[in-house]
Amino acid sequence: MRLGTLELGTPVYLAPMAGVTNEAFRRLCREQGADVVMSEMVSARALVMGNERTRAMLGVAEDEHPVAIQLFGSEPDVVAEAAVRAEAAGADIVDLNLGCPVDKIVRGGSGAALLRDPERAAAVVERTYTTPAGQHGYLEPQATVAWMEPGKPYVKSQVNGGRSVGRGS
Ligand SMILES: Cc1cc2nc3c(=O)[nH]c(=O)nc-3n(C[C@H](O)[C@H](O)[C@H](O)COP(=O)(O)O)c2cc1C
Repeated sequence: MRLGTLELGTPVYLAPMAGVTNEAFRRLCREQGADVVMSEMVSARALVMGNERTRAMLGVAEDEHPVAIQLFGSEPDVVAEAAVRAEAAGADIVDLNLGCPVDKIVRGGSGAALLRDPERAAAVVERTYTTPAGQHGYLEPQATVAWMEPGKPYVKSQVNGGRSVGRGS
């Protein structure tokens, strides 16, 4: 399977788990045969604000690549900047959380709340793609954010070199 610039073998990927998938856990999973491991979810905002505990969550060991760092956030510029930092820390993949239902995450407009605001979800992806980190290939060269809305035709936002095309049915 190809993911951006990565050629992946065994399709056994460690799911991100807040409070669980820290560096030590990820290395154990790699040892046991996981092909790609994933961090706990990391707050893009806390990272960009310089929170020390959050920054420590970006610790990546030599022997755990390929490794994905998962970010949560809802502000396009902040998530884009956090993605640059995640790449600098050693991430081979940056994953955006679109599913966390926890109250304090959703209240901030992140995680599952982004599914209620697909235009914002698309803006976050587009903005992140236009960063140097996005151009290095850990986002697919062409990403599609698609969603269904009651009473509307299928809506999608296609990200291609930072341009948004194909909105509408
Ligand atoms: C303790 C725990 C923490 C989790 N944290 C995250 C997270 O930070 N980000 C995320 O995308 N999913 C998170 N999940 C969801 C898992 O990655 C996974 O998608 C979910 O458990 C469904 O997979 P399963 O059917 O194999 O359990 C978490 C799940 C658990 C049990």
